[in-house]
Amino acid sequence: MKSEVAENSGLDPSKRPCHVAVIMDGNGRWAKKRLLNRVKGHERGVETVRMVVRTSRELGIRHLTLYAFSTENWQRPKSEISALMTLLRRFLVSETPEMQENGIRLNTIGEIDRLPGEVRQTLDQTLEATRENEDMCLTLALSYGGRAEIAGAVRAAAAAVKEGKIEPGDITEKSFSKYLYTADMPDPELLIRTSGEFRISNFMLWQLAYTEIFVTPTLWPDFTREEYIDILKNFQDRERRFGRISS
Ligand code: FPP
Repeated sequence: MKSEVAENSGLDPSKRPCHVAVIMDGNGRWAKKRLLNRVKGHERGVETVRMVVRTSRELGIRHLTLYAFSTENWQRPKSEISALMTLLRRFLVSETPEMQENGIRLNTIGEIDRLPGEVRQTLDQTLEATRENEDMCLTLALSYGGRAEIAGAVRAAAAAVKEGKIEPGDITEKSFSKYLYTADMPDPELLIRTSGEFRISNFMLWQLAYTEIFVTPTLWPDFTREEYIDILKNFQDRERRFGRISS
């Protein structure tokens, strides 16, 4: 793929975050400000998703994880849930060819079994079609909750102890992380949250331990490629010490 953005972005390729995670927030407020139905905000939000996926690929970011639907989102009105599911399906169908062209593999984290059958079917098709792609991994967090993920991992580790496969003393941070949805992924280096809320909202609680966090007041549908690149530049200027002192 042509990498003009990467060349012209002013980013230092050697300091590119390997994994960017995003809490996409503010679709509802974007719509409300315009006296539109909330679903219109989600529709515009999908355009921003396309832009962020494309830009990440162009910049050579290896992992992009998007918080598309939380376990708490099931409490929204049925009509909004159903609209989000429809948008997700349409996105998967329309983007699969471009994902193929650009070497993007789809991945999911979350309680996928809770999603409607048609969505699971479309997800399976895209997962299968993009399985061999190696240039970037796009992970959609769907029906995802960080505490539920950790509780599930604890259950799996406890079961392994009960079956005699491991000893309690074998459980370390490294071995425990293999029971999480993100077993084969690096932790996010950068978390972006739009719409100005300073919250993690039950997103990747284990994986965000040392992640740099950037909160922007911009509502998700208004988030632009220029702002994304500015945030990446800001990330490059930060000194990541992981609890150590400055060198
Ligand atoms: C938060 O806005 C956004 C969501 C709950 C869903 C995000 C979904 C999309 C961007 C579209 C579908 C996703 C894909 C991957 C195709 P909000 O509704 O909480 O906004 P508010 O806080 O202003 O009410």
